[in-house]
This record gives sequence, C-alpha cells and structure tokens, in this order.
Amino acid sequence: MQELIWSVRPDLIVETGIAHGGSLIFSASMLALLDVTDAVESGAEMMPTSSKRKVVGIDIDIRPHNRAAIEAHPMASRIHMIEGSSIAPDVVEQVHNIAAEFQRVLVCLDSNHTHYHVLAELEAYAPLTSVGSYCVVFDTVVQDMPADMFEDRPWSVGDNPKTAVWEFLKSNPNFEIDKAIQDKLLITVAPDGYLRRTG
Ligand SMILES: C[S@@+](CC[C@H](N)C(=O)[O-])C[C@H]1O[C@@H](n2cnc3c(N)ncnc32)[C@H](O)[C@@H]1O
Repeated sequence: MQELIWSVRPDLIVETGIAHGGSLIFSASMLALLDVTDAVESGAEMMPTSSKRKVVGIDIDIRPHNRAAIEAHPMASRIHMIEGSSIAPDVVEQVHNIAAEFQRVLVCLDSNHTHYHVLAELEAYAPLTSVGSYCVVFDTVVQDMPADMFEDRPWSVGDNPKTAVWEFLKSNPNFEIDKAIQDKLLITVAPDGYLRRTG
C-alpha cells in the first residue's frame, strides 16, 4: 500500500472498514508524507501543518473508544469518518459528494467480506477511482484458504472478495488486476485484489 500511495499520489483515499483505525492512520500518515515531499519540491521553508489531502473511512459500527483514539491522533485532521453501511444509498451519496472535490482518488475495500457486499461496494466506489489509480480489495485470499477456516464468518471459499472481483471485472473492462504487485509481494491478503483503473 505504501508503494501504491507513493506512486499514485492521491489527494483522497476512500476506505470501507475502519475497525480500530489502523489503516486510516496509515493512509493519513502516507498523505502527510506526500505533503512533505510536495513542500520540499516546491522549496517551501515551512513544513505543511494542514492538508487538502484526506482519508474518508466508512464503518457500520464506529465504537466510541475507537473514534476517540482516532480523533486524538496527530493525523486526525486528515481523517473524515462516516458511520453507516458502506452500501447504504445515503452513505454512498455522501462519499460521492466528498470525492467530487478531489482530483486523484484511491479506494480500499475492507469491510464485510461476502461476495454480495463486496460486489455492491465495487459497484458503488470503484467508479470513484481515478484513471491510473487503484481500487484495492482486501481479503481476496479467503478464496485460497481452507473452506472450514472461517467458522464464525459469513464468507468462505466461493463467497468472498475474490469472487466479487471476478464478477465485477466481467462487466467493467476499464479495470484490470495488477498481478505485478502480488507477484512482487509473494504473500498478500489481496491476491487478484489490486485493481488498476485503465480507462
Ligand atoms: C477488517 S475490519 C477493517 C480493518 C481496517 N481497514 C484496518 O485495516 O485497520 C472490518 C470492519 O468492517 C466493518 N463493517 C462490517 N460490515 C460493514 C458494512 N456493511 N459497512 C461498513 N462497514 C462494515 C466492521 O464493523 C469492521 O470494523
């Protein structure tokens, strides 16, 4: 993700699935580094203290202690959280309205990992991905794990993010799987999940 963010240089990262906020803080930190490199390259004497670059995170259940910890973090000014289901029409609309203010958008899907939910997220959010940027679908690896691995989860082999990606790509030829990323990583939770928008 660090290499992707560094090469795409997004001004907005959309993430479904917040949980404890680890990936939100990581993404916000990467955006802060992009701001620093912009400042260095432009010869600015002061490092930027605020930024136009933002992360929008969506979760159906933002627990108060997690929200408090995220809001207390030094990266908090770059983070906007929305509570609700990522596939609820009003949530999708809010995210689209926010994204309209940004030029280069990267999307990460990491919430409910069922085929149905991820396919609906792909339909809702993949179109926000800028050409040349990525929609990253996490936990596609479920398809490659033993079928009895996730006893207390609704997803398994045949019903998971990877099957959703395969279905989505059938009718969205403007996205392709960037195999170079998974081939370089060797071990990843997102095999076939690094989708580059080509047009
Ligand atoms: C794997 S965790 C996210 C982890 C986070 N991206 C990170 O790496 O730090 C999945 C999250 O998805 C959320 N979730 C489950 N169903 C959802 C839905 N329908 N809409 C939005 N979020 C959902 C859960 O509440 C949970 O916090």
